[in-house]
Amino acid sequence: MFDAAKSLVGPEPAPIPIEEFRSRQNRLFSQIGNDEIIILCSSPETIHSNDVHHPYRSQSDLIYLTGWYEPESVMFAECREGDWQVTLFVQPKDTLKEIWEGRRPGVEGALKSWAVDNAYSIGELEDRLSESIRNSSKVYHRTGIRSEIDSIVSNAVQLRGRARQLNGSGPIGVEDPSSKIAELRLRKSPAEIEQMRHAGIVSSVAHEAAMRSSMSGRTENQIQAIIEGFFVFSGTSGWAYPSIVGCGENATILHYKENNSPCNDGEIILIDAGSEYRGYASDITRSWPINGKFTDAQREIYQLVLDSQEAAIAECKVGNPYNAPHEAARRVLAEGLIKLGVISQSIEDSLDPVSGHLKHWYMHNTSHWIGLDVHDVGVYKPNGEPRLFESGMCLTVEPGLYFGSWRPDVDCPERYSNIGIRIEDDVLITDLGPDVLTSSCPKTIAEIESIVGQSF
Ligand code: GLY
Ligand code: MN
Ligand code: MN
Repeated sequence: MFDAAKSLVGPEPAPIPIEEFRSRQNRLFSQIGNDEIIILCSSPETIHSNDVHHPYRSQSDLIYLTGWYEPESVMFAECREGDWQVTLFVQPKDTLKEIWEGRRPGVEGALKSWAVDNAYSIGELEDRLSESIRNSSKVYHRTGIRSEIDSIVSNAVQLRGRARQLNGSGPIGVEDPSSKIAELRLRKSPAEIEQMRHAGIVSSVAHEAAMRSSMSGRTENQIQAIIEGFFVFSGTSGWAYPSIVGCGENATILHYKENNSPCNDGEIILIDAGSEYRGYASDITRSWPINGKFTDAQREIYQLVLDSQEAAIAECKVGNPYNAPHEAARRVLAEGLIKLGVISQSIEDSLDPVSGHLKHWYMHNTSHWIGLDVHDVGVYKPNGEPRLFESGMCLTVEPGLYFGSWRPDVDCPERYSNIGIRIEDDVLITDLGPDVLTSSCPKTIAEIESIVGQSF
């Protein structure tokens, strides 16, 4: 089955070229004084049980600026005689360590194949960094990622602070560079979009494979295995976030985690799963009847959520505020639920954030930025005002309705008992309108009914 599915994916895009990392670095450096320095560190490795490591994923800011994914690494940049120099501190080549833990590019590899000017062993970090901090007026460093790097920076800053009192030189403080880098990451380049589109296609086909293998009697974990197995089979690094695979009443739990129940005839299964490719996330949710045929009640709710999603996607236009898709989705859902007799308030009353009843059934936001992080960086309201969409921004559009009859806080309409529907796609803002990066994932009722339970 995976071979047939893979034939739908198409070729992988070219990797992001080294020159693009240089141009990202230059855009950041152009906002920073010539006597200031920037430090970015990799995330720590995490232990799963005893001495077994979790699969490693570095910090997205470091990946964004260098393309370097290895653990135990630090990038630091300073301007020397008008030229910005990027230095990477890395784990050195070490045969014994590599026999146990895997290959390392080492200092030579970093210099040869990455967008850096200098590379040293991580063991040289403290001395070299302290030296540079002494000559800088400000240190850009995000604390809280690696405590040992925080200590090196704060010791060096304190030491130089004393020197400043003596001779007037040395850093005056530490500032987090994240918001400057977030502004860059918010607007995706054509090469980034190609990585995201590929992640989106793999995830779309994985959802289709899951639909095709659905039938009552399967378990949630069996369908999860098909989706996640296909992520790996296709050469992505696996999931971008833990998959949510909930059938029946589990589909009404927004962040359901167990994924271990049987799927029963007549139930809706909701799957929120996306792959990560070369660091870039995709994020798709589809909901379908496990037996392949929507009941009338399921169809009413599914079509309403789909209409709301389409209205929201239509708002993903250059110049619109970031919350326009959310407001459009909410309005369609409220109108629909009033028509279906679920809500007995007026539209305006139902949309009220405090007293409106829409939030009983739709309680989350419609969108988040997506990129190197699934919930990607970027301030939604810079200076308190909603951000306006620009070409190159990517966001999810993911309205839903959740009728958990197990909930004690509301009276769930009997007709819609335990129907949970979310429909989520990843959308790129372009000058020509919304470009849905996950558009190959089956979505209409007719498409879903023709696919569920049918082999490729
Ligand atoms: N999968 C997480 C989300 O949809 O935001
Ligand atoms: Mn999402
Ligand atoms: Mn999702």
